[in-house]
Amino acid sequence: MDPGDVDEFLDLYEIVAAEKRYIGAEAPIDRARKREQFLERLASDRWGSLVAIDTDGVIIGQIGLKNMNGLIEVGMLVAPDMRGRGIGSELLTAGLDWARLRHAHKMTLQLWPDNEAARRLYAKFGFVEEGYLKRQWKRRNGEIWDAIVMGLQL
Ligand SMILES: CC(C)(COP(=O)(O)OP(=O)(O)OC[C@H]1O[C@@H](n2cnc3c(N)ncnc32)[C@H](O)[C@@H]1OP(=O)(O)O)[C@@H](O)C(=O)NCCC(=O)NCCS
Repeated sequence: MDPGDVDEFLDLYEIVAAEKRYIGAEAPIDRARKREQFLERLASDRWGSLVAIDTDGVIIGQIGLKNMNGLIEVGMLVAPDMRGRGIGSELLTAGLDWARLRHAHKMTLQLWPDNEAARRLYAKFGFVEEGYLKRQWKRRNGEIWDAIVMGLQL
Protein backbone atom coordinates (compact mmCIF):
# COMPACT_ATOMS: atom_id res chain seq x y z
CA MET A 1 0.00 0.00 0.00
CA ASP A 2 1.27 3.45 -0.91
CA PRO A 3 0.25 6.61 0.94
CA GLY A 4 -1.84 7.50 -2.13
CA ASP A 5 -3.87 4.29 -1.66
CA VAL A 6 -5.01 5.07 1.88
CA ASP A 7 -8.29 6.82 1.01
CA GLU A 8 -9.36 4.08 -1.39
CA PHE A 9 -8.40 1.46 1.18
CA LEU A 10 -10.42 3.24 3.88
CA ASP A 11 -13.53 2.96 1.65
CA LEU A 12 -13.10 -0.83 1.67
CA TYR A 13 -12.21 -0.88 5.38
CA GLU A 14 -15.43 1.01 6.12
CA ILE A 15 -17.52 -1.45 4.07
CA VAL A 16 -16.13 -4.40 6.07
CA ALA A 17 -16.47 -2.47 9.35
CA ALA A 18 -20.14 -1.85 8.44
CA GLU A 19 -20.69 -5.62 8.28
CA LYS A 20 -20.07 -5.49 12.06
CA ARG A 21 -19.24 -9.19 12.36
CA TYR A 22 -15.77 -9.85 11.04
CA ILE A 23 -13.22 -7.22 12.07
CA GLY A 24 -12.68 -5.30 15.28
CA ALA A 25 -13.48 -1.90 13.78
CA GLU A 26 -17.12 -0.87 13.54
CA ALA A 27 -18.63 1.70 11.19
CA PRO A 28 -18.82 4.63 11.18
CA ILE A 29 -15.06 4.84 11.50
CA ASP A 30 -13.22 8.02 12.44
CA ARG A 31 -11.78 8.51 8.95
CA ALA A 32 -9.40 11.35 9.74
CA ARG A 33 -7.92 9.43 12.66
CA LYS A 34 -7.65 6.20 10.67
CA ARG A 35 -6.02 8.01 7.72
CA GLU A 36 -3.42 9.50 10.05
CA GLN A 37 -2.88 6.10 11.70
CA PHE A 38 -2.37 4.30 8.37
CA LEU A 39 -0.03 6.99 7.03
CA GLU A 40 2.05 6.67 10.21
CA ARG A 41 2.12 2.89 9.83
CA LEU A 42 3.21 3.11 6.19
CA ALA A 43 6.12 5.31 7.25
CA SER A 44 7.23 2.78 9.88
CA ASP A 45 9.37 -0.29 9.12
CA ARG A 46 7.55 -2.14 11.94
CA TRP A 47 4.36 -2.20 9.87
CA GLY A 48 3.50 -3.80 6.57
CA SER A 49 0.35 -3.30 4.54
CA LEU A 50 -0.11 -5.27 1.33
CA VAL A 51 -3.07 -4.83 -0.98
CA ALA A 52 -4.71 -7.07 -3.56
CA ILE A 53 -5.89 -5.22 -6.67
CA ASP A 54 -8.11 -6.31 -9.53
CA THR A 55 -7.18 -5.95 -13.20
CA ASP A 56 -8.40 -2.33 -13.14
CA GLY A 57 -6.14 -1.54 -10.20
CA VAL A 58 -9.02 -1.34 -7.71
CA ILE A 59 -8.15 -2.43 -4.16
CA ILE A 60 -10.12 -5.59 -3.31
CA GLY A 61 -8.23 -6.85 -0.25
CA GLN A 62 -5.58 -6.00 2.29
CA ILE A 63 -3.37 -7.63 4.89
CA GLY A 64 -1.87 -5.58 7.70
CA LEU A 65 1.20 -6.83 9.58
CA LYS A 66 2.68 -5.44 12.78
CA ASN A 67 6.18 -6.62 13.64
CA MET A 68 6.73 -6.79 17.39
CA ASN A 69 10.31 -8.04 17.62
CA GLY A 70 9.64 -11.01 15.34
CA LEU A 71 6.08 -11.65 16.51
CA ILE A 72 3.87 -10.57 13.61
CA GLU A 73 0.29 -9.57 14.38
CA VAL A 74 -1.99 -10.02 11.39
CA GLY A 75 -5.28 -8.48 10.30
CA MET A 76 -6.86 -8.87 6.89
CA LEU A 77 -9.95 -8.33 4.79
CA VAL A 78 -11.32 -9.00 1.32
CA ALA A 79 -14.16 -7.05 -0.35
CA PRO A 80 -17.50 -8.82 0.33
CA ASP A 81 -18.21 -9.57 -3.34
CA MET A 82 -14.70 -10.94 -3.94
CA ARG A 83 -14.55 -13.50 -1.14
CA GLY A 84 -14.11 -17.22 -1.71
CA ARG A 85 -11.96 -16.80 -4.83
CA GLY A 86 -8.52 -17.30 -3.35
CA ILE A 87 -7.68 -13.65 -2.69
CA GLY A 88 -7.36 -14.13 1.07
CA SER A 89 -5.00 -17.05 0.44
CA GLU A 90 -2.87 -14.91 -1.90
CA LEU A 91 -2.72 -12.11 0.65
CA LEU A 92 -1.73 -14.47 3.44
CA THR A 93 0.96 -16.04 1.25
CA ALA A 94 2.36 -12.55 0.58
CA GLY A 95 2.13 -11.75 4.30
CA LEU A 96 4.09 -14.89 5.13
CA ASP A 97 6.80 -13.85 2.65
CA TRP A 98 6.89 -10.41 4.34
CA ALA A 99 7.30 -12.08 7.75
CA ARG A 100 9.96 -14.56 6.64
CA LEU A 101 12.00 -11.82 4.95
CA ARG A 102 12.15 -10.20 8.39
CA HIS A 103 13.17 -13.50 10.05
CA ALA A 104 10.04 -13.41 12.18
CA HIS A 105 9.49 -16.37 14.51
CA LYS A 106 5.70 -16.32 14.71
CA MET A 107 2.42 -14.95 13.38
CA THR A 108 -0.47 -14.24 15.73
CA LEU A 109 -4.04 -13.04 15.30
CA GLN A 110 -7.45 -12.95 16.89
CA LEU A 111 -10.80 -13.75 15.34
CA TRP A 112 -14.42 -13.93 16.42
CA PRO A 113 -15.44 -17.53 17.20
CA ASP A 114 -18.18 -17.57 14.52
CA ASN A 115 -15.89 -16.36 11.70
CA GLU A 116 -15.75 -19.73 9.99
CA ALA A 117 -14.19 -18.50 6.71
CA ALA A 118 -11.28 -16.85 8.54
CA ARG A 119 -10.80 -19.80 10.87
CA ARG A 120 -10.58 -22.21 7.91
CA LEU A 121 -8.30 -19.92 5.93
CA TYR A 122 -5.82 -19.69 8.81
CA ALA A 123 -6.06 -23.43 9.57
CA LYS A 124 -5.28 -24.15 5.89
CA PHE A 125 -2.01 -22.26 6.36
CA GLY A 126 -1.11 -24.20 9.52
CA PHE A 127 -2.29 -21.75 12.16
CA VAL A 128 -3.42 -23.49 15.35
CA GLU A 129 -5.87 -22.32 17.98
CA GLU A 130 -3.87 -21.30 21.03
CA GLY A 131 -6.45 -19.76 23.26
CA TYR A 132 -10.01 -18.73 23.84
CA LEU A 133 -10.61 -15.29 25.30
CA LYS A 134 -13.92 -15.04 27.12
CA ARG A 135 -15.84 -11.74 27.06
CA GLN A 136 -12.79 -9.95 25.68
CA TRP A 137 -13.89 -7.13 23.37
CA LYS A 138 -16.67 -4.61 23.96
CA ARG A 139 -18.77 -3.75 20.91
CA ARG A 140 -20.57 -0.48 20.29
CA ASN A 141 -23.94 -2.08 21.04
CA GLY A 142 -22.69 -2.93 24.53
CA GLU A 143 -22.17 -6.65 23.89
CA ILE A 144 -18.87 -8.18 24.97
CA TRP A 145 -17.58 -10.78 22.52
CA ASP A 146 -15.30 -13.78 22.95
CA ALA A 147 -12.25 -14.14 20.68
CA ILE A 148 -10.02 -16.99 19.53
CA VAL A 149 -6.24 -16.57 19.40
CA MET A 150 -4.49 -18.39 16.54
CA GLY A 151 -0.77 -18.65 15.95
CA LEU A 152 1.66 -19.97 13.35
CA GLN A 153 5.25 -20.85 14.21
CA LEU A 154 7.54 -19.81 11.34
C1 LIG B 1 -11.48 -14.24 5.91
C2 LIG B 1 -11.25 -13.70 4.49
C3 LIG B 1 -10.09 -12.70 4.52
C4 LIG B 1 -10.90 -14.88 3.57
O1 LIG B 1 -10.62 -14.37 2.29
P1 LIG B 1 -11.10 -15.14 0.97
O2 LIG B 1 -10.55 -14.42 -0.20
O3 LIG B 1 -12.56 -15.33 1.02
O4 LIG B 1 -10.36 -16.53 1.19
P2 LIG B 1 -10.02 -17.65 0.10
O5 LIG B 1 -10.97 -17.56 -1.05
O6 LIG B 1 -8.56 -17.59 -0.19
O7 LIG B 1 -10.36 -18.97 0.91
C5 LIG B 1 -9.41 -19.53 1.78
C6 LIG B 1 -10.02 -20.61 2.63
O8 LIG B 1 -10.94 -20.03 3.52
C7 LIG B 1 -12.02 -20.91 3.72
N1 LIG B 1 -13.24 -20.20 3.31
C8 LIG B 1 -13.36 -19.15 2.46
N2 LIG B 1 -14.64 -18.76 2.39
C9 LIG B 1 -15.33 -19.59 3.20
C10 LIG B 1 -16.70 -19.67 3.58
N3 LIG B 1 -17.62 -18.83 3.10
N4 LIG B 1 -17.04 -20.62 4.48
C11 LIG B 1 -16.12 -21.47 4.99
N5 LIG B 1 -14.83 -21.43 4.66
C12 LIG B 1 -14.44 -20.51 3.78
C13 LIG B 1 -11.78 -22.14 2.89
O9 LIG B 1 -11.16 -23.09 3.71
C14 LIG B 1 -10.81 -21.63 1.87
O10 LIG B 1 -9.93 -22.63 1.48
P3 LIG B 1 -10.19 -23.41 0.09
O11 LIG B 1 -10.06 -22.37 -0.98
O12 LIG B 1 -9.09 -24.43 0.08
O13 LIG B 1 -11.54 -23.98 0.21
C15 LIG B 1 -12.56 -13.05 3.93
O14 LIG B 1 -13.62 -13.95 4.08
C16 LIG B 1 -12.92 -11.74 4.60
O15 LIG B 1 -12.44 -10.68 4.22
N6 LIG B 1 -13.78 -11.79 5.63
C17 LIG B 1 -14.19 -10.56 6.33
C18 LIG B 1 -13.04 -9.95 7.10
C19 LIG B 1 -12.41 -10.95 8.04
O16 LIG B 1 -13.04 -11.85 8.54
N7 LIG B 1 -11.10 -10.78 8.25
C20 LIG B 1 -10.35 -11.66 9.11
C21 LIG B 1 -10.54 -11.26 10.53
S1 LIG B 1 -9.61 -12.31 11.62
